[in-house]
Amino acid sequence: MRQSSLVVVANRLPIDDSVAPDGACEWRRSPGGLVSALHPLLRHSPATWVGWAGGTGPAPTLPDVDGVHMRTVPLDHDDLRDHYEGFANATLWPLYHDSVEQPQHHRRWWEAYQRVNQRFAEATAEVAEPGAVVWVQDYHLHLVPGMLRAIRPDLRIGFFLHVPFPPPELFMQLPRRAELLRGMLGADLVGFQRAQAAHNFAQLVAKVLELPATDRRIGIDGRVVRIGAFPVSIDTAEMAALAARPDVAARARRLRQDLGSPEHVILSVDRMDYTKGIEQRLKAYSELLVSGHVKVRDTVLVQVAVPSRERVGQYQILRERVEREVGRINGEFGRVGEPAIHYLTQPFGRAELAALYRVADVMAVTPLRDGMNLVAKEYVAARVDDAGALLLSEFAGAAAELPQAYLVNPHDLEGLKQGLLESLHAAPADVRARMRAMRAHLHEHDIRAWARSYLRALDETGALVERLTSGGDPATPAVPGQPDRSGTPTGRPTEP
Ligand code: ADP
Ligand code: F6P
Repeated sequence: MRQSSLVVVANRLPIDDSVAPDGACEWRRSPGGLVSALHPLLRHSPATWVGWAGGTGPAPTLPDVDGVHMRTVPLDHDDLRDHYEGFANATLWPLYHDSVEQPQHHRRWWEAYQRVNQRFAEATAEVAEPGAVVWVQDYHLHLVPGMLRAIRPDLRIGFFLHVPFPPPELFMQLPRRAELLRGMLGADLVGFQRAQAAHNFAQLVAKVLELPATDRRIGIDGRVVRIGAFPVSIDTAEMAALAARPDVAARARRLRQDLGSPEHVILSVDRMDYTKGIEQRLKAYSELLVSGHVKVRDTVLVQVAVPSRERVGQYQILRERVEREVGRINGEFGRVGEPAIHYLTQPFGRAELAALYRVADVMAVTPLRDGMNLVAKEYVAARVDDAGALLLSEFAGAAAELPQAYLVNPHDLEGLKQGLLESLHAAPADVRARMRAMRAHLHEHDIRAWARSYLRALDETGALVERLTSGGDPATPAVPGQPDRSGTPTGRPTEP
Protein backbone atom coordinates (compact mmCIF):
# COMPACT_ATOMS: atom_id res chain seq x y z
CA MET A 1 0.00 0.00 0.00
CA ARG A 2 1.48 3.32 -1.11
CA GLN A 3 1.61 5.93 1.66
CA SER A 4 1.88 9.74 1.49
CA SER A 5 3.02 12.50 3.79
CA LEU A 6 -0.01 14.60 2.78
CA VAL A 7 -3.50 13.16 2.51
CA VAL A 8 -6.56 15.17 1.48
CA VAL A 9 -9.86 13.58 2.43
CA ALA A 10 -13.00 14.85 0.73
CA ASN A 11 -16.32 13.33 -0.15
CA ARG A 12 -15.59 13.54 -3.88
CA LEU A 13 -12.49 12.77 -5.86
CA PRO A 14 -11.62 15.63 -8.20
CA ILE A 15 -11.80 13.53 -11.35
CA ASP A 16 -14.41 12.53 -13.84
CA ASP A 17 -16.36 9.31 -13.31
CA SER A 18 -15.66 8.35 -16.88
CA VAL A 19 -12.19 7.00 -17.35
CA ALA A 20 -11.14 6.74 -21.02
CA PRO A 21 -10.60 3.26 -22.53
CA ASP A 22 -6.83 3.66 -22.28
CA GLY A 23 -7.21 4.24 -18.54
CA ALA A 24 -6.37 7.94 -18.76
CA CYS A 25 -8.37 10.42 -16.74
CA GLU A 26 -8.22 14.12 -16.13
CA TRP A 27 -8.82 16.50 -13.29
CA ARG A 28 -12.54 16.87 -13.14
CA ARG A 29 -12.96 20.55 -12.22
CA SER A 30 -16.49 19.59 -11.31
CA PRO A 31 -18.96 22.43 -10.77
CA GLY A 32 -18.34 22.74 -7.07
CA GLY A 33 -16.29 24.94 -4.82
CA LEU A 34 -14.24 22.31 -3.06
CA VAL A 35 -12.61 20.82 -6.12
CA SER A 36 -12.09 24.28 -7.61
CA ALA A 37 -10.28 25.35 -4.46
CA LEU A 38 -8.02 22.35 -3.98
CA HIS A 39 -7.27 21.48 -7.58
CA PRO A 40 -4.66 24.19 -8.19
CA LEU A 41 -2.84 23.32 -5.00
CA LEU A 42 -2.36 19.62 -5.30
CA ARG A 43 -1.53 19.49 -8.97
CA HIS A 44 1.94 17.99 -9.26
CA SER A 45 2.20 17.29 -5.54
CA PRO A 46 3.05 13.84 -4.17
CA ALA A 47 -0.12 13.60 -2.15
CA THR A 48 -3.02 11.18 -1.88
CA TRP A 49 -6.66 12.24 -2.26
CA VAL A 50 -9.15 9.96 -0.53
CA GLY A 51 -12.70 10.24 -1.87
CA TRP A 52 -15.70 8.83 -3.61
CA ALA A 53 -15.57 8.43 -7.40
CA GLY A 54 -19.33 8.92 -7.86
CA GLY A 55 -21.82 6.13 -8.54
CA THR A 56 -22.40 3.00 -6.51
CA GLY A 57 -20.73 -0.37 -6.45
CA PRO A 58 -17.13 -1.42 -5.92
CA ALA A 59 -14.52 1.35 -5.85
CA PRO A 60 -12.67 1.59 -9.17
CA THR A 61 -8.89 1.67 -9.18
CA LEU A 62 -7.88 4.97 -10.73
CA PRO A 63 -4.56 6.05 -12.12
CA ASP A 64 -2.60 8.88 -10.51
CA VAL A 65 -3.53 12.31 -11.81
CA ASP A 66 -0.77 14.89 -12.15
CA GLY A 67 1.22 13.05 -9.50
CA VAL A 68 -1.67 12.85 -7.05
CA HIS A 69 -2.62 9.35 -5.97
CA MET A 70 -6.36 8.63 -5.98
CA ARG A 71 -7.69 6.37 -3.23
CA THR A 72 -11.33 5.60 -3.91
CA VAL A 73 -13.87 4.93 -1.18
CA PRO A 74 -16.93 2.99 -2.36
CA LEU A 75 -20.52 3.93 -1.58
CA ASP A 76 -23.30 1.42 -2.14
CA HIS A 77 -26.87 2.31 -2.94
CA ASP A 78 -27.90 2.64 0.73
CA ASP A 79 -24.83 4.79 1.51
CA LEU A 80 -25.62 7.09 -1.39
CA ARG A 81 -29.23 7.49 -0.33
CA ASP A 82 -28.73 7.74 3.43
CA HIS A 83 -25.27 9.29 3.81
CA TYR A 84 -24.76 11.58 0.79
CA GLU A 85 -28.33 12.44 -0.20
CA GLY A 86 -29.70 11.99 3.31
CA PHE A 87 -27.63 13.11 6.29
CA ALA A 88 -25.16 15.25 4.33
CA ASN A 89 -27.51 16.93 1.88
CA ALA A 90 -30.98 16.79 3.42
CA THR A 91 -30.06 17.20 7.11
CA LEU A 92 -26.80 19.15 7.41
CA TRP A 93 -26.86 21.16 4.16
CA PRO A 94 -30.21 22.91 4.78
CA LEU A 95 -29.51 23.29 8.50
CA TYR A 96 -26.16 24.95 7.83
CA HIS A 97 -27.76 27.32 5.30
CA ASP A 98 -30.18 29.04 7.66
CA SER A 99 -32.75 26.24 7.23
CA VAL A 100 -33.92 27.91 4.02
CA GLU A 101 -35.37 24.47 3.34
CA GLN A 102 -36.55 22.25 6.18
CA PRO A 103 -33.79 19.88 7.44
CA GLN A 104 -34.98 16.30 7.75
CA HIS A 105 -33.98 13.88 10.48
CA HIS A 106 -33.94 10.09 10.14
CA ARG A 107 -32.13 7.64 12.39
CA ARG A 108 -31.18 5.48 9.41
CA TRP A 109 -29.35 8.42 7.85
CA TRP A 110 -27.28 8.91 10.97
CA GLU A 111 -26.26 5.24 10.98
CA ALA A 112 -25.13 5.57 7.36
CA TYR A 113 -23.22 8.77 8.13
CA GLN A 114 -21.25 7.01 10.88
CA ARG A 115 -20.63 3.96 8.71
CA VAL A 116 -19.35 5.98 5.75
CA ASN A 117 -17.21 8.27 7.92
CA GLN A 118 -15.63 5.17 9.49
CA ARG A 119 -14.85 3.82 6.01
CA PHE A 120 -13.19 7.10 5.03
CA ALA A 121 -11.18 7.10 8.28
CA GLU A 122 -9.94 3.56 7.68
CA ALA A 123 -8.99 4.25 4.07
CA THR A 124 -7.10 7.35 5.21
CA ALA A 125 -5.29 5.46 7.95
CA GLU A 126 -4.00 3.02 5.32
CA VAL A 127 -2.55 5.63 2.98
CA ALA A 128 -1.04 8.06 5.51
CA GLU A 129 2.69 7.79 6.26
CA PRO A 130 3.72 7.79 9.93
CA GLY A 131 3.35 11.38 11.16
CA ALA A 132 1.60 12.49 7.94
CA VAL A 133 -0.56 15.59 7.62
CA VAL A 134 -4.18 14.77 6.86
CA TRP A 135 -6.58 17.47 5.70
CA VAL A 136 -10.26 16.52 6.03
CA GLN A 137 -12.78 18.61 4.07
CA ASP A 138 -16.36 19.61 4.64
CA TYR A 139 -19.63 18.58 6.21
CA HIS A 140 -19.86 15.08 4.74
CA LEU A 141 -16.99 14.00 6.99
CA HIS A 142 -17.44 15.61 10.41
CA LEU A 143 -16.70 12.35 12.24
CA VAL A 144 -13.53 11.46 10.34
CA PRO A 145 -11.06 13.47 12.50
CA GLY A 146 -12.18 11.72 15.70
CA MET A 147 -12.35 8.27 14.09
CA LEU A 148 -8.95 8.71 12.47
CA ARG A 149 -7.29 9.88 15.69
CA ALA A 150 -8.58 6.72 17.40
CA ILE A 151 -6.81 4.56 14.78
CA ARG A 152 -3.76 6.73 14.07
CA PRO A 153 -2.86 9.08 16.95
CA ASP A 154 0.48 9.83 15.25
CA LEU A 155 -1.15 11.91 12.48
CA ARG A 156 -1.46 15.70 12.29
CA ILE A 157 -5.14 16.20 11.43
CA GLY A 158 -6.80 19.30 10.02
CA PHE A 159 -10.49 19.83 9.34
CA PHE A 160 -11.90 22.59 7.13
CA LEU A 161 -15.57 23.41 6.67
CA HIS A 162 -16.34 24.99 3.28
CA VAL A 163 -19.96 25.80 4.14
CA PRO A 164 -21.33 28.08 6.86
CA PHE A 165 -21.37 26.81 10.43
CA PRO A 166 -24.72 27.80 11.90
CA PRO A 167 -25.55 29.71 15.07
CA PRO A 168 -26.22 27.60 18.18
CA GLU A 169 -30.01 27.95 18.00
CA LEU A 170 -30.00 26.10 14.65
CA PHE A 171 -27.27 23.56 15.36
CA MET A 172 -28.95 22.61 18.64
CA GLN A 173 -31.80 21.07 16.62
CA LEU A 174 -29.54 18.21 15.55
CA PRO A 175 -30.33 15.03 17.46
CA ARG A 176 -26.64 13.99 17.20
CA ARG A 177 -25.09 17.41 17.89
CA ALA A 178 -22.68 16.18 20.58
CA GLU A 179 -21.26 13.41 18.38
CA LEU A 180 -20.70 15.80 15.46
CA LEU A 181 -18.84 18.31 17.62
CA ARG A 182 -16.72 15.58 19.18
CA GLY A 183 -15.89 14.23 15.72
CA MET A 184 -14.53 17.60 14.58
CA LEU A 185 -12.53 17.95 17.78
CA GLY A 186 -10.49 14.91 16.73
CA ALA A 187 -8.59 17.43 14.58
CA ASP A 188 -5.63 19.54 15.71
CA LEU A 189 -7.00 22.52 13.77
CA VAL A 190 -10.62 23.22 12.83
CA GLY A 191 -10.95 25.89 10.12
CA PHE A 192 -13.99 27.86 9.01
CA GLN A 193 -14.69 30.47 6.33
CA ARG A 194 -15.70 33.19 8.77
CA ALA A 195 -14.71 34.21 12.30
CA GLN A 196 -18.42 34.14 13.20
CA ALA A 197 -18.50 30.42 12.41
CA ALA A 198 -15.52 29.74 14.70
CA HIS A 199 -17.35 31.69 17.39
CA ASN A 200 -20.52 29.62 16.87
CA PHE A 201 -18.48 26.43 17.14
CA ALA A 202 -16.76 27.50 20.36
CA GLN A 203 -20.08 28.46 21.93
CA LEU A 204 -21.58 25.10 21.03
CA VAL A 205 -18.62 23.13 22.33
CA ALA A 206 -18.83 24.98 25.65
CA LYS A 207 -22.57 24.49 25.88
CA VAL A 208 -23.05 20.95 24.58
CA LEU A 209 -19.78 19.28 25.62
CA GLU A 210 -19.04 21.55 28.60
CA LEU A 211 -15.43 21.93 27.52
CA PRO A 212 -13.24 25.01 28.00
CA ALA A 213 -13.54 26.90 24.70
CA THR A 214 -12.57 30.29 23.31
CA ASP A 215 -12.84 31.44 19.69
CA ARG A 216 -9.21 30.33 19.27
CA ARG A 217 -8.67 27.17 21.29
CA ILE A 218 -10.53 24.33 22.88
CA GLY A 219 -9.23 21.86 25.44
CA ILE A 220 -10.21 18.19 25.12
CA ASP A 221 -8.65 14.99 26.48
CA GLY A 222 -5.48 16.83 27.49
CA ARG A 223 -5.01 18.23 23.95
CA VAL A 224 -5.54 21.69 22.53
CA VAL A 225 -7.61 22.04 19.37
CA ARG A 226 -7.05 25.34 17.59
CA ILE A 227 -9.88 26.97 15.67
CA GLY A 228 -9.91 29.91 13.29
CA ALA A 229 -11.13 31.62 10.13
CA PHE A 230 -9.43 30.92 6.79
CA PRO A 231 -11.53 32.32 3.92
CA VAL A 232 -11.01 30.08 0.92
CA SER A 233 -10.09 31.59 -2.42
CA ILE A 234 -9.30 30.85 -6.06
CA ASP A 235 -6.29 30.65 -8.32
CA THR A 236 -6.53 34.33 -9.18
CA ALA A 237 -3.52 34.38 -11.50
CA GLU A 238 -4.76 31.37 -13.44
CA MET A 239 -8.22 32.87 -14.01
CA ALA A 240 -6.75 36.26 -14.94
CA ALA A 241 -4.34 34.66 -17.43
CA LEU A 242 -7.16 32.65 -18.96
CA ALA A 243 -9.43 35.67 -19.27
CA ALA A 244 -6.62 37.70 -20.87
CA ARG A 245 -6.02 35.14 -23.61
CA PRO A 246 -6.84 36.56 -27.07
CA ASP A 247 -9.01 33.55 -27.95
CA VAL A 248 -11.04 34.02 -24.75
CA ALA A 249 -11.49 37.74 -25.45
CA ALA A 250 -12.56 36.86 -29.00
CA ARG A 251 -14.97 34.26 -27.67
CA ALA A 252 -16.47 36.88 -25.33
CA ARG A 253 -17.04 39.25 -28.26
CA ARG A 254 -18.65 36.44 -30.22
CA LEU A 255 -20.89 35.55 -27.29
CA ARG A 256 -22.11 39.15 -27.12
CA GLN A 257 -22.96 39.04 -30.80
CA ASP A 258 -24.75 35.72 -30.38
CA LEU A 259 -26.75 37.29 -27.57
CA GLY A 260 -27.94 39.95 -30.03
CA SER A 261 -25.36 42.62 -29.11
CA PRO A 262 -27.47 43.95 -26.23
CA GLU A 263 -26.52 47.01 -24.24
CA HIS A 264 -26.36 45.04 -20.99
CA VAL A 265 -25.60 41.40 -20.24
CA ILE A 266 -26.44 40.08 -16.77
CA LEU A 267 -24.89 36.71 -15.88
CA SER A 268 -25.49 34.24 -13.05
CA VAL A 269 -23.60 30.96 -12.65
CA ASP A 270 -24.81 28.60 -9.94
CA ARG A 271 -25.16 24.98 -9.05
CA MET A 272 -28.91 24.34 -9.11
CA ASP A 273 -29.32 24.75 -5.37
CA TYR A 274 -32.02 26.40 -3.26
CA THR A 275 -29.33 28.25 -1.30
CA LYS A 276 -28.29 30.19 -4.43
CA GLY A 277 -31.37 32.42 -4.56
CA ILE A 278 -32.16 31.61 -8.20
CA GLU A 279 -35.94 31.88 -7.77
CA GLN A 280 -35.71 35.21 -5.95
CA ARG A 281 -33.45 36.58 -8.70
CA LEU A 282 -35.84 35.45 -11.45
CA LYS A 283 -38.72 37.09 -9.62
CA ALA A 284 -36.82 40.37 -9.31
CA TYR A 285 -35.91 40.25 -13.00
CA SER A 286 -39.45 39.42 -14.03
CA GLU A 287 -40.85 42.35 -12.03
CA LEU A 288 -38.34 44.69 -13.67
CA LEU A 289 -39.56 43.48 -17.06
CA VAL A 290 -43.18 44.01 -16.04
CA SER A 291 -42.51 47.53 -14.80
CA GLY A 292 -40.54 48.33 -17.95
CA HIS A 293 -37.37 49.23 -16.01
CA VAL A 294 -35.63 46.51 -18.01
CA LYS A 295 -36.34 45.90 -21.68
CA VAL A 296 -35.54 42.66 -23.50
CA ARG A 297 -34.24 44.65 -26.45
CA ASP A 298 -31.48 46.25 -24.32
CA THR A 299 -30.78 43.68 -21.64
CA VAL A 300 -30.39 39.91 -21.51
CA LEU A 301 -30.02 37.62 -18.53
CA VAL A 302 -27.84 34.53 -18.94
CA GLN A 303 -28.59 32.05 -16.18
CA VAL A 304 -26.25 29.05 -15.98
CA ALA A 305 -27.61 26.51 -13.51
CA VAL A 306 -25.88 23.15 -13.60
CA PRO A 307 -28.04 20.42 -12.03
CA SER A 308 -26.87 19.15 -8.66
CA ARG A 309 -27.90 16.39 -6.20
CA GLU A 310 -30.61 15.45 -8.62
CA ARG A 311 -32.21 12.64 -6.65
CA VAL A 312 -32.83 14.77 -3.57
CA GLY A 313 -36.49 15.83 -3.49
CA GLN A 314 -35.86 19.48 -2.61
CA TYR A 315 -33.49 19.81 -5.61
CA GLN A 316 -35.97 18.18 -7.99
CA ILE A 317 -38.69 20.57 -6.86
CA LEU A 318 -36.38 23.55 -7.26
CA ARG A 319 -35.39 22.59 -10.79
CA GLU A 320 -39.00 22.18 -11.84
CA ARG A 321 -39.93 25.55 -10.39
CA VAL A 322 -36.96 27.35 -11.93
CA GLU A 323 -37.60 25.84 -15.34
CA ARG A 324 -41.30 26.66 -15.18
CA GLU A 325 -40.49 30.26 -14.26
CA VAL A 326 -37.86 30.65 -17.00
CA GLY A 327 -40.39 29.28 -19.48
CA ARG A 328 -43.06 31.67 -18.22
CA ILE A 329 -40.79 34.71 -18.40
CA ASN A 330 -39.54 33.83 -21.87
CA GLY A 331 -43.08 33.11 -23.04
CA GLU A 332 -44.34 36.42 -21.74
CA PHE A 333 -41.44 38.77 -22.55
CA GLY A 334 -39.32 37.08 -25.21
CA ARG A 335 -39.62 37.56 -28.94
CA VAL A 336 -38.60 35.30 -31.79
CA GLY A 337 -34.80 35.12 -31.61
CA GLU A 338 -34.80 37.33 -28.48
CA PRO A 339 -35.44 35.38 -25.29
CA ALA A 340 -35.49 37.35 -22.06
CA ILE A 341 -33.41 34.69 -20.34
CA HIS A 342 -30.76 32.44 -21.84
CA TYR A 343 -30.96 29.38 -19.61
CA LEU A 344 -28.11 26.83 -19.72
CA THR A 345 -27.67 23.74 -17.59
CA GLN A 346 -24.39 22.46 -19.04
CA PRO A 347 -21.05 22.24 -17.32
CA PHE A 348 -18.53 24.46 -19.16
CA GLY A 349 -14.78 24.33 -19.54
CA ARG A 350 -12.72 26.97 -17.75
CA ALA A 351 -12.07 28.99 -20.93
CA GLU A 352 -15.77 29.19 -21.77
CA LEU A 353 -16.54 30.26 -18.19
CA ALA A 354 -13.87 32.95 -18.43
CA ALA A 355 -15.41 34.20 -21.70
CA LEU A 356 -18.84 34.31 -20.05
CA TYR A 357 -17.42 36.32 -17.17
CA ARG A 358 -15.83 38.74 -19.61
CA VAL A 359 -19.06 39.32 -21.46
CA ALA A 360 -21.08 40.01 -18.29
CA ASP A 361 -21.64 43.69 -17.56
CA VAL A 362 -23.34 42.66 -14.33
CA MET A 363 -22.56 39.43 -12.51
CA ALA A 364 -25.48 38.65 -10.20
CA VAL A 365 -24.34 36.43 -7.33
CA THR A 366 -27.23 36.51 -4.89
CA PRO A 367 -27.29 33.40 -2.68
CA LEU A 368 -29.54 33.33 0.38
CA ARG A 369 -26.58 31.90 2.28
CA ASP A 370 -23.20 30.68 1.01
CA GLY A 371 -20.01 29.63 2.80
CA MET A 372 -17.87 31.66 0.38
CA ASN A 373 -19.01 31.61 -3.31
CA LEU A 374 -16.06 31.16 -5.60
CA VAL A 375 -18.00 32.27 -8.67
CA ALA A 376 -17.97 35.84 -7.32
CA LYS A 377 -14.20 35.68 -6.92
CA GLU A 378 -13.70 34.10 -10.35
CA TYR A 379 -15.66 36.93 -11.97
CA VAL A 380 -13.49 39.55 -10.32
CA ALA A 381 -10.30 37.72 -11.30
CA ALA A 382 -11.49 37.45 -14.89
CA ARG A 383 -12.14 41.20 -15.26
CA VAL A 384 -8.61 42.04 -16.27
CA ASP A 385 -10.12 45.06 -18.05
CA ASP A 386 -11.35 46.45 -14.67
CA ALA A 387 -14.87 46.59 -16.10
CA GLY A 388 -17.97 44.75 -14.89
CA ALA A 389 -20.18 45.20 -11.84
CA LEU A 390 -20.46 42.49 -9.19
CA LEU A 391 -23.89 42.36 -7.57
CA LEU A 392 -23.26 40.30 -4.44
CA SER A 393 -25.41 38.95 -1.64
CA GLU A 394 -24.56 40.10 1.87
CA PHE A 395 -25.05 36.47 2.87
CA ALA A 396 -22.18 35.08 0.78
CA GLY A 397 -18.93 34.64 2.68
CA ALA A 398 -17.24 36.56 -0.17
CA ALA A 399 -19.10 39.75 0.83
CA ALA A 400 -16.85 40.18 3.88
CA GLU A 401 -13.83 40.36 1.60
CA LEU A 402 -15.37 42.25 -1.31
CA PRO A 403 -17.20 45.19 0.27
CA GLN A 404 -16.72 47.17 -2.97
CA ALA A 405 -19.29 44.93 -4.68
CA TYR A 406 -22.86 46.22 -5.07
CA LEU A 407 -24.19 44.48 -1.99
CA VAL A 408 -27.80 43.32 -1.69
CA ASN A 409 -30.06 41.40 0.65
CA PRO A 410 -31.58 38.74 -1.65
CA HIS A 411 -34.51 38.21 0.73
CA ASP A 412 -35.57 41.80 0.06
CA LEU A 413 -37.19 41.75 -3.37
CA GLU A 414 -37.35 45.53 -3.73
CA GLY A 415 -33.72 45.80 -2.59
CA LEU A 416 -32.73 43.15 -5.12
CA LYS A 417 -34.47 45.04 -7.92
CA GLN A 418 -32.80 48.27 -6.83
CA GLY A 419 -29.42 46.52 -6.72
CA LEU A 420 -29.89 45.18 -10.24
CA LEU A 421 -30.81 48.62 -11.56
CA GLU A 422 -27.99 50.32 -9.67
CA SER A 423 -25.38 47.93 -11.01
CA LEU A 424 -26.84 48.08 -14.54
CA HIS A 425 -26.68 51.85 -14.64
CA ALA A 426 -23.62 52.55 -12.50
CA ALA A 427 -21.18 55.15 -13.78
CA PRO A 428 -18.25 53.45 -15.54
CA ALA A 429 -15.76 55.24 -13.30
CA ASP A 430 -17.48 53.87 -10.18
CA VAL A 431 -17.55 50.36 -11.65
CA ARG A 432 -13.86 50.53 -12.47
CA ALA A 433 -12.82 51.84 -9.07
CA ARG A 434 -14.72 49.06 -7.32
CA MET A 435 -13.43 46.36 -9.63
CA ARG A 436 -9.85 47.54 -9.27
CA ALA A 437 -10.07 47.38 -5.47
CA MET A 438 -11.58 43.89 -5.54
CA ARG A 439 -8.97 42.65 -8.00
CA ALA A 440 -6.19 43.98 -5.79
CA HIS A 441 -7.65 42.11 -2.84
CA LEU A 442 -7.85 38.82 -4.73
CA HIS A 443 -4.39 39.26 -6.18
CA GLU A 444 -3.08 38.93 -2.62
CA HIS A 445 -5.72 36.70 -1.07
CA ASP A 446 -5.58 33.83 -3.52
CA ILE A 447 -5.77 30.07 -3.08
CA ARG A 448 -2.10 29.78 -2.21
CA ALA A 449 -2.45 32.36 0.53
CA TRP A 450 -5.36 30.35 1.91
CA ALA A 451 -3.44 27.07 1.86
CA ARG A 452 -0.35 28.73 3.26
CA SER A 453 -2.19 30.23 6.21
CA TYR A 454 -4.09 27.04 6.98
CA LEU A 455 -1.20 24.64 6.59
CA ARG A 456 1.20 26.88 8.46
CA ALA A 457 -1.19 26.77 11.39
CA LEU A 458 -1.57 22.99 11.07
CA ASP A 459 2.01 21.97 10.36
CA GLU A 460 4.22 24.22 12.42
CA THR A 461 7.43 22.83 10.88
CA GLY A 462 6.53 24.82 7.74
CA ALA A 463 7.84 22.06 5.45
CA LEU A 464 4.49 21.25 3.95
CA VAL A 465 3.69 24.88 3.26
CA GLU A 466 6.90 25.31 1.33
CA ARG A 467 6.27 22.22 -0.75
CA LEU A 468 2.73 23.08 -1.73
CA THR A 469 2.75 26.80 -2.15
CA SER A 470 6.16 27.68 -3.51
CA GLY A 471 7.10 27.89 -7.12
CA GLY A 472 5.87 29.43 -10.26
CA ASP A 473 3.47 32.07 -9.09
CA PRO A 474 4.80 35.57 -8.71
CA ALA A 475 1.47 36.53 -7.17
CA THR A 476 2.09 34.32 -4.15
CA PRO A 477 1.80 36.72 -1.26
CA ALA A 478 2.90 36.75 2.32
CA VAL A 479 0.25 35.58 4.76
CA PRO A 480 -2.53 38.12 4.46
CA GLY A 481 -4.40 39.71 7.31
CA GLN A 482 -6.87 42.37 6.37
CA PRO A 483 -9.72 42.91 8.78
CA ASP A 484 -13.18 41.78 7.78
CA ARG A 485 -16.30 43.57 8.90
CA SER A 486 -16.27 41.91 12.28
CA GLY A 487 -12.79 43.31 12.77
CA THR A 488 -11.28 39.85 12.67
CA PRO A 489 -8.38 39.30 10.32
CA THR A 490 -9.24 37.29 7.26
CA GLY A 491 -6.90 35.02 5.37
CA ARG A 492 -5.11 33.92 8.49
CA PRO A 493 -6.12 32.03 11.58
CA THR A 494 -7.32 33.69 14.69
CA GLU A 495 -4.11 32.87 16.50
CA PRO A 496 -4.57 30.84 19.65
P1 ADP B 1 -20.58 25.62 -4.56
O1 ADP B 1 -19.35 25.15 -3.83
O2 ADP B 1 -21.77 25.76 -3.67
O3 ADP B 1 -20.89 24.82 -5.76
P2 ADP B 1 -19.03 27.97 -5.48
O4 ADP B 1 -19.48 29.21 -6.17
O5 ADP B 1 -18.16 28.21 -4.29
O6 ADP B 1 -20.33 27.12 -5.12
O7 ADP B 1 -18.19 27.08 -6.48
C1 ADP B 1 -18.73 26.68 -7.70
C2 ADP B 1 -17.59 26.26 -8.62
O8 ADP B 1 -18.13 25.49 -9.68
C3 ADP B 1 -16.86 27.42 -9.25
O9 ADP B 1 -15.48 27.13 -9.35
C4 ADP B 1 -17.48 27.51 -10.64
O10 ADP B 1 -16.62 27.99 -11.66
C5 ADP B 1 -17.82 26.08 -10.93
N1 ADP B 1 -19.01 26.01 -11.80
C6 ADP B 1 -20.27 26.43 -11.53
N2 ADP B 1 -21.09 26.22 -12.58
C7 ADP B 1 -20.34 25.65 -13.53
C8 ADP B 1 -20.61 25.18 -14.85
N3 ADP B 1 -21.82 25.26 -15.41
N4 ADP B 1 -19.58 24.64 -15.53
C9 ADP B 1 -18.36 24.53 -14.97
N5 ADP B 1 -18.04 24.94 -13.76
C10 ADP B 1 -19.02 25.50 -13.03
O1 F6P C 1 -19.06 23.58 -0.89
C1 F6P C 1 -20.18 22.82 -0.92
C2 F6P C 1 -20.11 21.54 -1.74
O2 F6P C 1 -20.71 20.47 -1.09
C3 F6P C 1 -18.71 21.16 -2.08
O3 F6P C 1 -18.15 20.29 -1.13
C4 F6P C 1 -18.85 20.56 -3.44
O4 F6P C 1 -17.73 20.84 -4.21
C5 F6P C 1 -20.05 21.27 -4.03
O5 F6P C 1 -20.81 21.72 -2.95
C6 F6P C 1 -20.83 20.38 -4.99
O6 F6P C 1 -21.58 19.42 -4.30
P1 F6P C 1 -21.68 17.87 -4.63
O7 F6P C 1 -20.34 17.26 -4.32
O8 F6P C 1 -22.77 17.39 -3.74
O9 F6P C 1 -22.01 17.76 -6.07
